[in-house]
Amino acid sequence: MYFAGRLESKNTEEYKDAARFAKDLGLSECVTDMLHMSDTELEHEKYFLSVIVDRWILRPVTLFYNGVRHHFMVHS
Ligand SMILES: [Fe+2]
Repeated sequence: MYFAGRLESKNTEEYKDAARFAKDLGLSECVTDMLHMSDTELEHEKYFLSVIVDRWILRPVTLFYNGVRHHFMVHS
């Protein structure tokens, strides 16, 4: 679940990047969709976090893989 959450976290950022690229390319009709997908991926990330938030293993895994997103740390 932890790694699924990390994957979703990366997806969230990639959709934000895609929205920026779309905007830069003048594809304004795509920007809203990309941002919506980013929000959807964030909801997935939050779901996976909610499954593991009370598990003792979360803290050491988070410390070991210190590249996790901020809210993984905040909600753990
Ligand atoms: Fe997802």
